[in-house]
Amino acid sequence: MTSDVLIIGGGITGLACAVELKLRGANVTVLCRDFTAAASHAAAGMLAPDAENITDAAMLSLCQRSLTLYPEWISKLEEITGLNAGYWPSGILAPVYQKAGVNLPISQSPSLWLDQATINQYQPGLSTDVVGGWWYPDNGQVDNRYLVKVLRNAAESLGVIFKDGVAVEAIAQQQGQVIGVQTNTGFLKADHYLLAAGAWSNQILPLPVRPCKGQMLRLRVPEFLTELPLTRVLFGENIYIVPRRDRSIILGATVEDVGFTPDNTPAGIHSLLAAATRLYPPLADYPIQEMWWGFRPATPDELPILGESHCSNLTIATGHYRNGVLLAPVTANLIADMILSQKTDPLLTNFHYSRFQNIPFKTQSSTTSMLTHPANFTNGHSKTLSLQPTEFNLQDPGLVIAGKTFQSRLMTGTGKYRSIEEMQKSVAASGCQIVTVAVRRVQNNAPGHEGLAEALDWGKIWMLPNTAGCQTAEEAIRVARLGREMAKLLGQEDNNFVKLEVIPDAKYLLPDPIGTLQAAEQLVKEGFAVLPYINADPMLAKRLEEVGCATVMPLAAPIGSGQGLQTTANIQIIIENAQVPVVVDAGIGAPSEAAQAMELGADALLINSAIALAENAPAMAYAMGLAAVAGRMAYLAGRMPMKSYASASSPLTGTITG
Ligand code: GLY
Repeated sequence: MTSDVLIIGGGITGLACAVELKLRGANVTVLCRDFTAAASHAAAGMLAPDAENITDAAMLSLCQRSLTLYPEWISKLEEITGLNAGYWPSGILAPVYQKAGVNLPISQSPSLWLDQATINQYQPGLSTDVVGGWWYPDNGQVDNRYLVKVLRNAAESLGVIFKDGVAVEAIAQQQGQVIGVQTNTGFLKADHYLLAAGAWSNQILPLPVRPCKGQMLRLRVPEFLTELPLTRVLFGENIYIVPRRDRSIILGATVEDVGFTPDNTPAGIHSLLAAATRLYPPLADYPIQEMWWGFRPATPDELPILGESHCSNLTIATGHYRNGVLLAPVTANLIADMILSQKTDPLLTNFHYSRFQNIPFKTQSSTTSMLTHPANFTNGHSKTLSLQPTEFNLQDPGLVIAGKTFQSRLMTGTGKYRSIEEMQKSVAASGCQIVTVAVRRVQNNAPGHEGLAEALDWGKIWMLPNTAGCQTAEEAIRVARLGREMAKLLGQEDNNFVKLEVIPDAKYLLPDPIGTLQAAEQLVKEGFAVLPYINADPMLAKRLEEVGCATVMPLAAPIGSGQGLQTTANIQIIIENAQVPVVVDAGIGAPSEAAQAMELGADALLINSAIALAENAPAMAYAMGLAAVAGRMAYLAGRMPMKSYASASSPLTGTITG
């Protein structure tokens, strides 16, 4: 049976949506890779729109709506399951150490400034450094671990199907529709799909969601205290202290931009303990029960990504960053409205995925690629750069890769430029039709890669996503899949090209031949047109061709070295043996070297550093474009044979002598 809705992600967002969709009559399946890894499992469960000092108006409104939904939502879940979700509208105190320089929180809900004496009445035992604080009676907490168990139990008892240990590897799309998901256990289909994979979302779709690590720990109220010493959440500077009714006290959390680096660290735990015992000194003697860490799903503007995607049957609910527990009920409602009733709340426009791309949301009809019509390519110098060999009685069908024809035989990149404008001018001046883009760097908004999506006209330039930064075949396969999604998101529906780079070596950036071959085999099986970057190894080139690669891309010299053609003899053998285009990639430093590679019979060139690092990059790009044309023309024209001796330019026979 196929599900009506397949949810990718079994954290609080996926679970809350599953329950809501099921209650509204849908057949729901949840794919849950690792329940305990979810941020909702690691969280403290604060319901704290005011204490978190959320200043974005749309976000604050979303959070307030969710907070309002909480009591009824919890009652409903507790009724379904008969379990306690640990909801405690305890209020939150936000003590401050000094008034000078304190930014007063912007709050729409009732909040109160308490002076030193009053805050000490609300919470005895605070540090003498505390000079007052805010009281947010509407904010509170829920025991997030209880809550996710209750949600899961509710979902199961309602008939939601769970597939645990199932990891989604790729989303298969056709014509603006998801046709299924590739998982570690096979291919799964549904009518509609919901991506709710938290910090892992961008391993599935190229969304700018990155992990933001938080370390936490739990203390226990000592036995000799009969009463709970803390009954309100304390939200201090770089620390929050969340007392539970079961005598646990949660301390959180660090905010670390360290990717998916696991583990608690002495520095992390020390910072939490120091801040907590400063705020509430009695904690210094409380027993430590547990330490853990988790990964918040962070977006560049720290707002969630909610709503439609580039595919009509794929909805997104991710990037909740610090507020996933709080936002669960409102997210579930909005997403269920959208999937089952096609109702889009106006608030959702603020959380649309395309805000990071600054490109209009593209429908299928507006994504017609111009690439099937190479004649449509124009640039300022097209007359010169596309000089037709036919004018000289030479036949050149153009560069054909995986059935696509390109007039230009020069490919360029987007890295290392001093500015986006310089890159744009250079790409135009080069006359190139294929530009390679590092998928990982674009996703991570690496320096020089911010705004790349908008910077080039992908209706005219064919994107060649590359797997730069991948050290293993597995990583490269994953990033290649993301690259395909990226190209689709940018309107290139039929783009299945990938420049495969598997580079474990950081010094010389030499590709791993075995990893490259393994990844190439897999990617070819998945329908990619694979353009592997390799050392100039003729045997490897042959093997890659045999497994179905669309080209081979041997290096002239190490990437970015500008050393020119260091591997001429091997490149010649590769050219001689290859039935697929040979693209000389890396190491070209000057137009003379570009021309030389083309004269050898290379089918194309990929040049980035030599253009981007030239003093005048656009001028060098233009020169490289000319060199590629010159070299190709020379190859087709057939160079004169070399001789050991001189041969006078003006023949002696028939000349007048004496
Ligand atoms: N919600 C608090 C945190 O993310 O640390």
